[in-house]
Amino acid sequence: MTTAADLIARSNRLGSDPRVTNYAGGNTSAKGSETDPVTGEPVELLWVKGSGGDLGTLKEAGLAVLRLDRVRALKNVYPGLDREDEMVAAFDYTLHGTGGAAPSIDTAMHALVDADHVDHLHPDSGIAFATAADGEQLTAKAFGGRVAWVDWRRPGFQLGLDIAAIKAANPEAIGVILGGHGITAWGSTSDEAEANSLWIIDTAEKYIETEGRADPFGTLLDGYGALPEAERRAKAAALAAHLRSIASTDRTQVGSFTDAEVVTDFLARTEHVRLGALGTSCPDHFLRTKVKPLVLDLPASASVDDSIARLDELHAQYRTDYQAYYDAYATPDSPAIRGADPAIILIPGVGMFSYGANKQTARVAGEFYINAINVMRGAEAISTYSPISDEEKFRIEYWSLEEAKLKRMPAPKPLAGRIALVTGAASGIGKAIATRLAAEGACVVIADLDLEKAQAAAAELGGTDVAIGVRANVTSEDDVQASVDAALLAFGGLDLVVNNAGLSLSKSLLETTVADWDLQHNVMAKGSFLVSRAAAKVLIDQKLGGDIVYISSKNSVFAGPNNIAYSATKADQAHQVRLLAAELGEYGVKVNGINPDGVVRGSGIFSSGWGAKRAAVYGVPEEELGKYYAQRTLLGREVLPENVANAVFVLCTGDLSHTTGLHIPVDAGVAAAFLR
Ligand SMILES: NC(=O)c1ccc[n+]([C@@H]2O[C@H](COP(=O)([O-])OP(=O)(O)OC[C@H]3O[C@@H](n4cnc5c(N)ncnc54)[C@H](O)[C@@H]3O)[C@@H](O)[C@H]2O)c1
Ligand SMILES: [Zn+2]
Repeated sequence: MTTAADLIARSNRLGSDPRVTNYAGGNTSAKGSETDPVTGEPVELLWVKGSGGDLGTLKEAGLAVLRLDRVRALKNVYPGLDREDEMVAAFDYTLHGTGGAAPSIDTAMHALVDADHVDHLHPDSGIAFATAADGEQLTAKAFGGRVAWVDWRRPGFQLGLDIAAIKAANPEAIGVILGGHGITAWGSTSDEAEANSLWIIDTAEKYIETEGRADPFGTLLDGYGALPEAERRAKAAALAAHLRSIASTDRTQVGSFTDAEVVTDFLARTEHVRLGALGTSCPDHFLRTKVKPLVLDLPASASVDDSIARLDELHAQYRTDYQAYYDAYATPDSPAIRGADPAIILIPGVGMFSYGANKQTARVAGEFYINAINVMRGAEAISTYSPISDEEKFRIEYWSLEEAKLKRMPAPKPLAGRIALVTGAASGIGKAIATRLAAEGACVVIADLDLEKAQAAAAELGGTDVAIGVRANVTSEDDVQASVDAALLAFGGLDLVVNNAGLSLSKSLLETTVADWDLQHNVMAKGSFLVSRAAAKVLIDQKLGGDIVYISSKNSVFAGPNNIAYSATKADQAHQVRLLAAELGEYGVKVNGINPDGVVRGSGIFSSGWGAKRAAVYGVPEEELGKYYAQRTLLGREVLPENVANAVFVLCTGDLSHTTGLHIPVDAGVAAAFLR
């Protein structure tokens, strides 16, 4: 195997074990020789995980490849600690060939440590030692001379020099604990480095287990234990919209919820108040979790209203504290404050909400706080948890190199950070709408009659960070509430609501039964009323505006035979648009509709009999029906589900920010259905 392939295999093994490192945390490297295509001579190279990326899923393209002689020569021009950041730009002049990932800040450590294979990892057990008040003594005790201690220092060229010097001075050492941060291990072969990494992690875990206190988080607090599952999920859903407004004062965030036992147990114990206030330590952790979480200081039994009132007070305090933290440590060239809202909100008895610019970021922030809980448990078991100082946290959080990384991120998609619920989205027009909204960056909840179909449609859009499928009959108040709750628990909120579920019976007045009438009106008029009502409560609580879109129909204005129940209920939906636009405007909620016509392709309505009937009426083969409709239109074009989806997207973007109460025809031009 080539050196790079070997390194990838080791990295993937290490990165896929959550005991070993957090998501996207840590980096690995290997040194080796290859033929230099310029000279035909051997050249010593360093392969190292580049900036960003995750060890568990690392591929060769995620590696930076550098000339070892040139990276090491940087020691000669290193200008000293206060200018160490300049070395990152210098790495670019040591690259071997083009392609590969950008070298990360940790490159110096990998290059300077004199070992062919180096792993830098963030294991919870290792960070427990790294954040223990007497971590240096404990490291000596637990690992003997095999693992050395390195005092906290912000990652960079100097840390690389420090570790290299400590390795040189401790030839028997297989690695180090990096104070406040994580571990680094090395070996002369890839297997040896991996075995050494795992030995440090296992030894740390065993030491904590055998030597640590039994109840590091203290005794159980009366009334702070986890509520029964149904109750805590209901309370989480009832709080979610308000919590999102708290997390989104400065910029709109997506949320992620977990009621994992590790979280509810932490919140049930006496020490969670003191430890919560200390915040996280590993730089990777607090860049996502913010320096500390917002912790509700009420028992599990607190009512939703009391919780909200108290959360508002705590939020105001959180913002004041965060501003004070910024003001205390910012220098004239610090980047501007990035928002003062919490990224982690902890609710005793219920669980944790975590926030980020999208679902993946929000979910990972939550995972990192769980890492931090594990770190605190370990550190408190063997000592006292003692994270790096606020001043050092600030130097990481507002590091110009971090800011540069943020600036390099691609611009967010138009609907990034927005959460959509589309009814009837397992098929036809609804599915096209869900697909478009997801492609534009929204998180999507697909609600439809059949759970499997809804989940299959969601899976087509990507994993559960993008879309989830739920079973809901929109005629049922409970089902509708459950699908809104599903949006709240999966993504933390709701912004875009599309009333699309529907069906068409197409019968003459005399053929239409009361059951036909009721079915049409229950699914479309009543169903969209129920969805809009449940959603509007969330939109109002969130204070982030939002959009409600009705997929009405050309038939809401066009009068033709054999359509009494369908067209009457479409007219009802169309007037709901105007009524709700009038009522919800004061909350910044826009309500608009779309009048499609003749969408044959992909439509379940057409394929389940109605299309055949219409085709018979017009005397054309069923598969020609789309074309037949097209030639009747002013533009002569066939209307596709995607055309309707495009209109939904446009309504939900900032470009139509001043439009409410409107219907957009998507019918290729039908003069008889012109709005006036
Ligand atoms: N196809 C057209 O030409 C056309 C024209 C104008 C308006 N529309 C409207 O567009 C919407 C979508 O129609 P389509 O053509 O994509 O049809 P479709 O049959 O392909 O999709 C409708 C979806 O709604 C779901 N649904 C039905 N009853 C439901 C209920 N009670 N609860 C939850 N989900 C339910 C169905 O399971 C299906 O997945 C409908 O409201 C329809 O009236 C369609
Ligand atoms: Zn690190």
